[in-house]
Amino acid sequence: MENSQIVLKMENISKSFPGVKALDEVSISIKPGRVHALMGENGAGKSTLMKCAFGLYHPDQGTISMYGETVHFTCARDAMDHGISMIHQELHPVKTRNVMENIWIGRIPHRKAMGMKWVNERKMYEDTRALFQELGIDINPRTMVGELSVSHCQLLEIARAVSYNAKVIIMDEPTSSLTETEAELLFHIIRKLTAQGVAIIYISHKIEEILKISDEVIIMRDGRLIGSWPASELTMETIVNRMVGREMTQRFPEKKHQPGKEHLVVQNFTSANPSSFQNITFTLRKGEILGIGGLVGAQRTELMESIFGLRPIAAGTININGKEVRIKSSKDAIRHGLALLTEERRATGIIPMLSVMENMVLSKQSADTRHYTSGRLFLRDKIRRADAQRYVKSFSIKTPGIKTLIRNLSGGNQQKVLLGRWMLLEPDILILDEPTRGIDVGAKYEIYCLMEEMAQAGKSVIMISSEMPELMGMSDRVMVMCEGHLSGILEGEDITDRKIMYLASTYEIA
Ligand SMILES: Nc1ncnc2c1ncn2[C@@H]1O[C@H](COP(=O)(O)OP(=O)(O)OP(=O)(O)O)[C@@H](O)[C@H]1O
Ligand SMILES: [Mg+2]
Repeated sequence: MENSQIVLKMENISKSFPGVKALDEVSISIKPGRVHALMGENGAGKSTLMKCAFGLYHPDQGTISMYGETVHFTCARDAMDHGISMIHQELHPVKTRNVMENIWIGRIPHRKAMGMKWVNERKMYEDTRALFQELGIDINPRTMVGELSVSHCQLLEIARAVSYNAKVIIMDEPTSSLTETEAELLFHIIRKLTAQGVAIIYISHKIEEILKISDEVIIMRDGRLIGSWPASELTMETIVNRMVGREMTQRFPEKKHQPGKEHLVVQNFTSANPSSFQNITFTLRKGEILGIGGLVGAQRTELMESIFGLRPIAAGTININGKEVRIKSSKDAIRHGLALLTEERRATGIIPMLSVMENMVLSKQSADTRHYTSGRLFLRDKIRRADAQRYVKSFSIKTPGIKTLIRNLSGGNQQKVLLGRWMLLEPDILILDEPTRGIDVGAKYEIYCLMEEMAQAGKSVIMISSEMPELMGMSDRVMVMCEGHLSGILEGEDITDRKIMYLASTYEIA
């Protein structure tokens, strides 16, 4: 293809970090008006390649050109000046500022009055309103960012990227915390942008979404380019096989567990917050995987966090193995054998300045101080290392070593470390909130196997999920919530997308 038809070209890009060759001679061509999906397993090098294109990393080798001319980006500002914009995988809005200030940060409009420069609030407000209106986003520009939900933060990032009038927009897992309607809105925005000739690079682990939105699919594995194909020539299977480099025949492990007697009974649970959940009663059996379905706003996370003692309740009781228990804090919950993997992992989960090992043993260390000291101090590190190594191995966490700082791991691998943190506590009841968000197909399968193993061992699992296939593929029963109410519990043949969707959108007051 003629160079003039290519906006951005990356040739033979290599990049190493201590202990990893993240990129090995990768070449890609990005064309105007087209959506290029960039796919690969966790740690394949997708974000690193895009950070090179955006001037955040300097490649060790290779050239980057735009419209046939070689460019050297020394920082993100440089890349932006050349018309490249990026929505990052890790969101970091300035929480103490409002929405419009976050959009125009670094470019805040000013006006002169009385010989001084003032922030032009009105212009900023109007510009933000116009931008949101064009994109169909419904957020008040004056809201403080700290008050926004994760999905609104993501829409904010998208709007900011668009506001630069970029020629290339890189989206690193833009839909990971969007609801289905919001994702549709994003696709609509993408189509508008491509119609104007903007090139999109789209990173996602959701294959259904990729097949729907992209024109071309670029696949990477272990820092290398596997190839690039028109999306129309690919299917779910061919994409998966090329990503993992082997045949993946199964998406879910074979169901061998048998739910037994009552394990956890939650009765009349009502949040102290009147706009959250009300009057929820359900039972979890030993050796059961209970799926929780619902739309965003259904209050599923709030319910689980309340059971775990993180949020106050107005009424309700919890019985574990037939005995009533009082859970007022996460410490109480852990003592009663519960573990909760939260949804907003980056905000409430990882500690970036600590190593993979420190992050992994954190909960175990505070819940059971003797485990790592046991009298003889020198044993301590050995056990910690062994514990960390065990889950690095069983979840195939891609890291040079357990002493590596967790912030140097790819997004998906950071999540696996957090799952390891909870597994080390050997919980009887494991609550997972969107456990496979941002996780690649191979690792998803490993997490499903772990759930199956736990259920076989007579432990119980609660899984909040917005992904229909996983709710249907893994759950013994699916409890569906709608606007803070329990709208139904499905079992066996009744677990279908249609029934879940129906219950997720309506409820009857008993
Ligand atoms: N700043 C860094 N320091 C050290 N290693 C890094 C750094 N950034 C990335 N890596 C390593 O480079 C490799 C590629 O990471 P990258 O984040 O590009 O993966 P990814 O394909 O985006 O994965 P995911 O789907 O999990 O987001 C990983 O092994 C990661 O640990
Ligand atoms: Mg990434």
